[in-house]
Order: sequence, then C-alpha cells, then structure tokens
Amino acid sequence: MEFVKVARSGQVPDGYVRRFYAGELEIAVARLRGTAYATSNYCTHLDCLLSSGKLVDEGIGCSCHGSVFDVETGEAVCPPATEPIRTYPVKEENGEIYVGVTEEDLAEGGPRRRKAIR
Ligand code: FES
Repeated sequence: MEFVKVARSGQVPDGYVRRFYAGELEIAVARLRGTAYATSNYCTHLDCLLSSGKLVDEGIGCSCHGSVFDVETGEAVCPPATEPIRTYPVKEENGEIYVGVTEEDLAEGGPRRRKAIR
C-alpha cells in the first residue's frame, strides 16, 4: 500500500464531503469533527454519489434515500443500505491529505457505479 496525495487540507472543510481521485480510484473525502476520512464514493444501496451527500453525527448520509455510513468502518448504520462502503487509511501532513491505496486500486478504480439509477 502507498499513500497518495489527493487534496489540500483546505479543500475539505469540517462538515463537508468532496470527491477526489487517486489514479483511477474515485474516493469521497470527508472531514468530521476535524478528522479527515476517505471512503468509496458510491452508496451500496443504489450507487448514488456519497460526495453529493451530507455529513451527519454518525457519518456520511446519502442524499438519495437516507442511508448513513460510518466514516471510520464503512458500516451501514442507517438503512436502506445494508452493505458497508470501502474505507481507506488517511494521513494528513503539512496541509495535504494522503490516502492509502494499493496498486490495484490505482489501476482499477475500486467500486464504481454498477446499476442504472431510475
Ligand atoms: S442510493 Fe444511497 S440510500 Fe439509496
């Protein structure tokens, strides 16, 4: 695993979630109570973008149907989603956010939109 720079710290203010890329890998970076977290960017319910969601006390809330995912573990803590999202280790140093990814993640892009949303 290697840590890849994905954003400047100032691009993710507290209480916000935004989309970034590490190679082909699309990730959501959120800052909750001052700490930055990285997760896959697709909700496991019907693949809405989590970077379009909102942070709530328990984690990232999906804007489509209200699922909530724990940003540390990826666990779905509020339905309708039941499957966890992927999480990635984060290091924040000298005003930069780094996400820990594998070579496979960088090349293949990780979880992506799989189904049409109607
Ligand atoms: S797509 Fe996220 S809750 Fe339905």
